[in-house]
Amino acid sequence: MAAKKASIKTADVPGPKSVELGKLRDKYLSKAMGISAPVYIEKAEGSLLWDVDGNTFIDIGCGIGVTNVGHRPKEVVAAVKKQADKFLHTCFQVTPYEGYVRLAEKLATIAPHPGLVKSVLYNSGAEAVENSVKISRHYTKKQAAFSFVHAFHGRTMMAMALTSKEMPYKAGFGPLPETYKVEFAYCYRCPFKMDYPSCGVACADKIDQTWSSPQFQGKVACLIGEPVAGEGGFIVPPKEFYAKITKICKKHGAVYVDDEIQTGAGRTGKMWAVQHWPGVEPDILVSGKGIGGGFPVSATTGRIEIMDAPQVGGLGGTFGGNPVACAAALAQFGVIEKGMKNVPRINAYITKRLKEMQSRFPIIGDIRGMGAMMAIELVSDPKSKTPAAKETKAAKVAAMKKGLILLTCGTYDNVIRLHPSIIMPDDILEEAMDILEASLEEGTKSA
Ligand SMILES: Cc1ncc(COP(=O)(O)O)c(C=O)c1O
Repeated sequence: MAAKKASIKTADVPGPKSVELGKLRDKYLSKAMGISAPVYIEKAEGSLLWDVDGNTFIDIGCGIGVTNVGHRPKEVVAAVKKQADKFLHTCFQVTPYEGYVRLAEKLATIAPHPGLVKSVLYNSGAEAVENSVKISRHYTKKQAAFSFVHAFHGRTMMAMALTSKEMPYKAGFGPLPETYKVEFAYCYRCPFKMDYPSCGVACADKIDQTWSSPQFQGKVACLIGEPVAGEGGFIVPPKEFYAKITKICKKHGAVYVDDEIQTGAGRTGKMWAVQHWPGVEPDILVSGKGIGGGFPVSATTGRIEIMDAPQVGGLGGTFGGNPVACAAALAQFGVIEKGMKNVPRINAYITKRLKEMQSRFPIIGDIRGMGAMMAIELVSDPKSKTPAAKETKAAKVAAMKKGLILLTCGTYDNVIRLHPSIIMPDDILEEAMDILEASLEEGTKSA
């Protein structure tokens, strides 16, 4: 890592202009929307953010894992401007355009296996998730939709039902569509008390047992899973887990939906995280977030017979695959493909720094993740693994005041997640990790 520092400047955070805008927010926006860092952004470039008060921040949250290739990559900005000069909207289902079919073609070309050929484009991750269940039910003529404990799949009705955490995502919003949960391979807190890593297959086998019961035999339409549980705490299952799961899905005639909304678009060093594990063959892949280079676009990409199952007119939407978003997505895939080579270096540096921090701070119970998607789980006692949620929040606030925008996650609100852009320069990454270290020191003392 280079010795040069990125020279982050923070004075008063949040500064007076941000505080003023915060008052407007309190007056005109629903209180139900939480804000992680109440600093109002004026400008962004690469891995840096500038707020309205002149403060600079390193962005290691990437707007929840979206700006995988940094803010405003020049290729994306140029493609957006070019498309904006042509047309902004027609609705693909009314009068189609090239960008939509080219993006679908690109998604087929880069799919984790050659069977994933056909796509429908949408605006948000949740919308792609909703549609993956609709399509699976239509294709299988079965109804039961399964997801994992610790999963996050979005905030619309079906996506919320598939999501695991009750507070704040689900409480009070019911009745929700009927869905079912199976345990995820959360090895740090193994639900079956098995030994790592021999547990991978045995853990997946529990799903086979559930589906073979009279309640579910012949009734399962789909199982949706995140390769690395994102919102649930960056939980990486053992490498045999998903290969076994796709086999179990085949055995039961269920569609396996791979939710790569957070893990995809180069984030883990391969285009899709399941590509790290041989033998994992999803039937549908849902993507979003990073595929749009900052523009809202998502996709459901699947096997031909599955994607063609619903009746004509059964899928689509007014804005899905908007022409400007398609242009942005097509341009940024090139940037991702070049940037992915940096991921092992980013991962090695973050891992080294986190291990050093763990030796200083026993509160770091677990270090885990994949590629440029790393996290620490904070516990007040390494034996009992009692979640240290207060300290986690305090460290996040301390980091913001020192110029680092980072996010927390986890079923127990005790995980600090790091998802830098995959083009983050070494000196900025080094400064980000220095700030994290100082913030852990301050946050864990002050909580
Ligand atoms: C794995 C996963 N699926 C689905 C979603 C929902 O995406 P969106 O917020 O774009 O609706 C998210 C968002 O964080 C996610 O991480």
